Amino acid sequence: MSEVVSYQLKDNIGVITVNNPPVNALAQVVREGILNAINTAQDDASEAIVLRCAGRTFIAGADITEFGKPPKEPALPDVLSVLENSSKLVVAAIHGTALGGGFETTLACHYRCAIASAKVGLPEVKLGILPGAGGTQRVPRIAGVKAALDMITSGNPVAASKAKDMGLVDELVSGDDLEAAAISYAKELVASGAPLKRIRDIAIDPATIEPGFFESSRKQVARRARGQIAPDRIVSAIQAAVELPFDDGLKKERELFLELVSSSESAAMRHIFFAERQAAKIKDLPKDTPTRAIKKVAIIGGGTMGGGIAMCFANVDIPVVMVEVNDEALQRGLSIINKNYGITVKKGKMSEERMQTRLELISGTTDYADIADVDLVIEAVFENLDLKKEIFSKLDATCKQGAILATNTSYQDVNAIADATSRPQDVVGMHFFSPANVMKLLEVVRGDKTADDVLATAMKTGKQIGKICALSRVCYGFIGNRMLSGYGREAQGLLLDGCTPAQVDSALENFGMAMGPLAMGDLAGLDVGYKARQSRTDLPDDPRLYRMGTVLVEMDRLGQKTGAGYYKYDPETRARMSDPEVEALIKKEAEALGVEQRDISDEEILQRCFYPLINEGALILEEGIAQRPSDIDVVYVYGYAFPAAKGGPMFYADQIGLKNVYDKICEFRDRYGEDYWKPAPLLKELAEKGSSFAEWAEQQ
Ligand code: CAA
Repeated sequence: MSEVVSYQLKDNIGVITVNNPPVNALAQVVREGILNAINTAQDDASEAIVLRCAGRTFIAGADITEFGKPPKEPALPDVLSVLENSSKLVVAAIHGTALGGGFETTLACHYRCAIASAKVGLPEVKLGILPGAGGTQRVPRIAGVKAALDMITSGNPVAASKAKDMGLVDELVSGDDLEAAAISYAKELVASGAPLKRIRDIAIDPATIEPGFFESSRKQVARRARGQIAPDRIVSAIQAAVELPFDDGLKKERELFLELVSSSESAAMRHIFFAERQAAKIKDLPKDTPTRAIKKVAIIGGGTMGGGIAMCFANVDIPVVMVEVNDEALQRGLSIINKNYGITVKKGKMSEERMQTRLELISGTTDYADIADVDLVIEAVFENLDLKKEIFSKLDATCKQGAILATNTSYQDVNAIADATSRPQDVVGMHFFSPANVMKLLEVVRGDKTADDVLATAMKTGKQIGKICALSRVCYGFIGNRMLSGYGREAQGLLLDGCTPAQVDSALENFGMAMGPLAMGDLAGLDVGYKARQSRTDLPDDPRLYRMGTVLVEMDRLGQKTGAGYYKYDPETRARMSDPEVEALIKKEAEALGVEQRDISDEEILQRCFYPLINEGALILEEGIAQRPSDIDVVYVYGYAFPAAKGGPMFYADQIGLKNVYDKICEFRDRYGEDYWKPAPLLKELAEKGSSFAEWAEQQ
């Protein structure tokens, strides 16, 4: 029929097979192919139709690369209407992940069967859109309004067995041959005279919806996804499913879909989707670079970081040995892991049995001889270069040849650490973010001598433990922490200039940051930054610099742990509250330093905090520390909770226009001096050319 959709009559069943690797996305040729196949089946000897996919998965959704381009016929909703109105019964046979438009396709079929390992879901919200082919109208009709709302606003897929319980799947089939199982299911349905079940015909009784349900849902999603519009529009679409006849509901859904697909939010989230996948690719490393097998791992250091990393490996069934200096430290480390898993069990997110299996995979030792046989070591001790060098020289003397020796350092020179061994080619940085078992980002740091297969293995291992990997070359703080320095500096500077802590944090939180920088400082402990600053020799000698952070630490206001920092905290609920004492203190300090306070707009707060990130990002690109601007975006979205709906700092800069960013940085330079605001040459060049980071990346 076509290259990507074939049709074959097998006994009395017409089998449509979609074969559009890698994920059977619903490109125009696929939509057209399905439409033609359904039409063909209407007139042949088939008594029912099976819709299945070749390859690793059922249709994983619309072809995202088509969004933002002129639409091509046939539109998916039209294809699904023909499918649903087929005079012959249609069964969808699901394996892998039936997502977005893929799952919506199955909902237009009359029956759905799936293998146990399959998952179904509507992840559109993660792309800043909503299901645009009937998902918001059909799911509430079979799974109920509340379940539909949870599924579509979270975007999280559900496993086949749960989908069956929810009524989203009719039959779970077993065996290796899904096609055969689906054909035999279709035959049974025909033989039993099963009706053509059309979800559209199911009515939702509005009386079953509690008064105020949609208003409160709207408020709830607004709190969860600050500044995003898609979750709100999803609520509206589901409300339409309840209040309008099916066809009118579909029309409403389409209207909202078209609004969202052309929004900047969706453009940003699509950018992040592709950026994340791009970041996994190392430009000068062929795809078939060999990797080393990682069957056993050792972690040096049983602190919060080491424990979190150990959990990442146990979670994917890889045995881990934790190394500590003495029994007491080891027991403390192991008990933290125990406690962390315990919390997950308490929340009902893991069974007690699963927790035990994972704990059994984690052992401890104080003797390096016990880790001689591991394939990968990750050092996660505190940030002291001499200590790290000493550890690596010990690892060199103990570990088997071919073992990968990784450091989780956030700042130290990976090349110097590698040179403490006789095998610098086996040394690499694997920089996790705290809490390591939760945060998605892994910065993989390539030393000057890191071997290709070591790098490829670090990236592959990162993916295996569920991380999103981005590659960095060696520099102080690598991509993420290096960029962060100006962000924190300006947040504090804004206080002296006239802002309150709450004003700075809320401007950034309203933008979409999970937590403002000052509240974050209170959470991490203000003494952490204070100590780090004391060991730096590169900072200008300026009493205004980091003034408020310093004053608060010297008053022993260290943040949440002492009950007060930039804010005061309710001892019971830990709720943060503005503190008039701090506000008075800021005024006093500004006066003493001769800083004239003024009213500052939220726009200036965003510029002062984000433009240093962008400027440093440009330097990082020029120096070849990051491979691409989109890699920097991935680092910020997954490591620092920069809102995906804004696409990361470099994408955001392109949206503002680099000329605007550059001009503002020059204005700040004239106001605050070159020590703090020095436009990066690449930013200047692109601004003058009227170009963008994205265009620059294409030319590399
Ligand atoms: N459109 C276009 N390309 C896609 C795609 C899609 N929907 N889904 C995946 N791809 C591409 C990826 O970009 C990647 O390309 P490269 O190899 O060139 O980097 C390739 O397919 C493989 O993808 P992954 O690396 O992600 O493979 P995986 O096995 O780790 O994961 C997956 C597979 C779970 C299906 C994952 O790709 C995924 O979540 N895809 C997106 C699903 C989605 O969001 N669907 C909804 C689309 S919107 C929609 O359908 C709207 C509607 O209502 C009509």
